[in-house]
Amino acid sequence: MQKIIILDFGSQTTQLIGRRVRELNTFCEILPYNKYPEDDKDVIGVILSGSPLSVYADDAFHVDLSHIRGRLPILGICYGAQLISYNYGGRVESAGTREYGRQHLQYIDATCPLFRGFDEHSQVWMSHGDSITRLPEGARRIASTETVENAAYFIPDAQPVYGTQFHPEVFHTLQGTLLLKNFVVDICGSRQEWSAEKFVETTVHELREQIGSDRVILGLSGGVDSSVVAVLLNHAIGDQLTCIFVDHGMLRKNEFRDVMRDYEGLGLNVIGVDASDKFLSDLSGVKEPEQKRKIIGRDFVEVFNAEAQKITDAKWLAQGTIYPDRIESLNITGKVIKSHHNVGGLPKDMHLKLCEPIRWLFKDEVRRVGRSLGMPEHLITRHPFPGPGLAVRILGDITREKIHILQEADDIYIRNLREAGLYDQIWQAGAILLSEVRSVGVMGDERTYENPIALRAVTSSDAMTADFAHIPYEVLAKISNEIINKVKGVNRVCYDISSKPPSTIEWE
Ligand code: XMP
Repeated sequence: MQKIIILDFGSQTTQLIGRRVRELNTFCEILPYNKYPEDDKDVIGVILSGSPLSVYADDAFHVDLSHIRGRLPILGICYGAQLISYNYGGRVESAGTREYGRQHLQYIDATCPLFRGFDEHSQVWMSHGDSITRLPEGARRIASTETVENAAYFIPDAQPVYGTQFHPEVFHTLQGTLLLKNFVVDICGSRQEWSAEKFVETTVHELREQIGSDRVILGLSGGVDSSVVAVLLNHAIGDQLTCIFVDHGMLRKNEFRDVMRDYEGLGLNVIGVDASDKFLSDLSGVKEPEQKRKIIGRDFVEVFNAEAQKITDAKWLAQGTIYPDRIESLNITGKVIKSHHNVGGLPKDMHLKLCEPIRWLFKDEVRRVGRSLGMPEHLITRHPFPGPGLAVRILGDITREKIHILQEADDIYIRNLREAGLYDQIWQAGAILLSEVRSVGVMGDERTYENPIALRAVTSSDAMTADFAHIPYEVLAKISNEIINKVKGVNRVCYDISSKPPSTIEWE
């Protein structure tokens, strides 16, 4: 399949370039800047991302483009454009101050294919400390702004090279998607054949080839990613797949029962394991969040492995890893931003091979694939839920009674969000039991001294950043009333109005 390679020099917006290219129904891979593939027969063009670094910095990322230039069209964005200049006889200098924000193009070469269809003073987004003060050899300026003379350039070659100082991938570059379309479709010649249906067709075919008649184990969590993997594998290899769904006792109200029913309805071969006694007894008295996570992680691996060992002829372990998880772990700066929560640990002595069929997909693409596989909508649109479940939403130690209180409050909350038509507009919502806090209330003629419930709901596109959801007061009032009236042990409800960063989505 045709693909665009995006070489990542560490910019915050590299992932966005990938998303935009995918939105043009074109497959792309984001690779660390120095990992251009040896076999590039399907590659139709290369995009060089931005970077927080200067091309002159001691630790700058440099790369030899000679094996790409002239063979494939290239688009350098910000640092990418500066790097091409630096490599091919141009000059890059510090602009003195960092230029950040909206600008309007003053000059634009309307004959240039990159700007086909562009408006004269189109708004672009700049974010750079260095500027290109001399264009690379043979280059022609194709755009300027009031303060940036070389806002874009073009080098004619056997295959064209373009550079833009601004960022076409960000929303504030109003015609950025058009620019990327001009590059990807017109200049690189994408046939725009990437779609959820196409993905299912090729992946099912590849899975059959890869797995043959082997047996595969998959850990299901009830979330959309592992569920989509299960259905894909089921299409490809049918009952060679065995799924394991562990109930650690800290799922939402009725979730284990409902999700098992959904899975069975999808024709999956699922073993449901109720291990709540083990988890809750190991967690007894433990208050510290990281320790809770460690115990749950360890117990999960133990329970899962014990079940997996029973499938003696298994050769593969399938996982619902998706692209943003991988980009984070492939981060070229070498810093771990978020450790992978969901990956428990492989049953080592079973020597399983890893199968990750949705490793190239973004979350919204996973959902589209789920729809094209005919999965029920409520499974596809289900909010993300943390692996340790309600354990990270009960502050302090965990007891069955606290779990019960939180499940009831959470159930009222989520049902009301659905009834108000808000559930699908929200990335993730959940209730938190502040069991370490008690406050005074009055119910009838009686004084109460009980725990508060906090409600959390955020909007986000990838959980890396998030804003609190602006739920109407009337809906919040109804939820608060219902929780306080119906859930024994709760006499106060608060709404969390923090964004991420600096807060996180979960409270622990
Ligand atoms: P935070 O709280 O870090 O959460 O803003 C970001 C996203 O990750 C989920 N999350 C977890 N998922 N195990 C998981 O499987 C965990 O320990 C965990 N902690 C947070 C969280 O629900 C949100 O979607």
